Amino acid sequence: MRKPIIAGNWKMYKNASEATSFVEEVKTALPSAEKVDAVICAPALFLQSLVKTAENTDLRIGAQTMHEEKEGAFTGEISPTQLKDLGVEYVIIGHSERRQYFNETDQSANKKVVSAFGNGLVPILCVGETLEQRENGETGSVVEAQVEKGVAQLSADQAAGLVIAYEPIWAIGTGKTATADDANEVCGLIRKKISSLFNSETADAIRIQYGGSVKPANIEELMNMEHIDGALVGGASLEAESFLKLLEAGANA
Ligand code: 13P
Repeated sequence: MRKPIIAGNWKMYKNASEATSFVEEVKTALPSAEKVDAVICAPALFLQSLVKTAENTDLRIGAQTMHEEKEGAFTGEISPTQLKDLGVEYVIIGHSERRQYFNETDQSANKKVVSAFGNGLVPILCVGETLEQRENGETGSVVEAQVEKGVAQLSADQAAGLVIAYEPIWAIGTGKTATADDANEVCGLIRKKISSLFNSETADAIRIQYGGSVKPANIEELMNMEHIDGALVGGASLEAESFLKLLEAGANA
């Protein structure tokens, strides 16, 4: 059985005190870590204080991106070793907003995924098609190619510990959710691709999230699907009450 993983992606929202009070509120009401992994991926500025605020609780803290090198002359960037040193455990890699606005590619995402594992972080690799690609019937081929390039050079053990987030770009921040059946179909294709690239044990172990306008009202249906092991959530992760409802749904799935 795969343990569900619900991750909030705060993107570029909240100030320091809002971030801390969210974690203060959530940390006392978390469902058991045996039932669900709860992660908040916060702006880099708040990671250090949030790790401290969440200390000795079951809330894990993640970053939203990183550079693949351990150190170097890369002004403005943050390295995996710097994240690890703070106690950060997860990192989102290749989010569609990073691909769209910051020129990230499958190749750069792959370098970061490999580096995250090499430095003791769990990468959450994002994939997903545009509306045009979906309308042209290219969803499967686009997502499979993103997965294949994104996991290049990983060992089967590493791939088993990877989290993949299937986020159709047209569903992000738009209020349009993929139907649970459509999301499950693509997550199933991703699992099949992992099986063919590695083996069936790896495919059984890897956790695949759906992301794109997930909220308390639709998460249960998504979590009931065979191939959906969790959610990567933007807007609905910004309020403690709503994030806790998402965690409950994950814990009860
Ligand atoms: P929304 O949940 O706001 O649609 O954002 C999804 C997302 O991009 C999470 O990474």
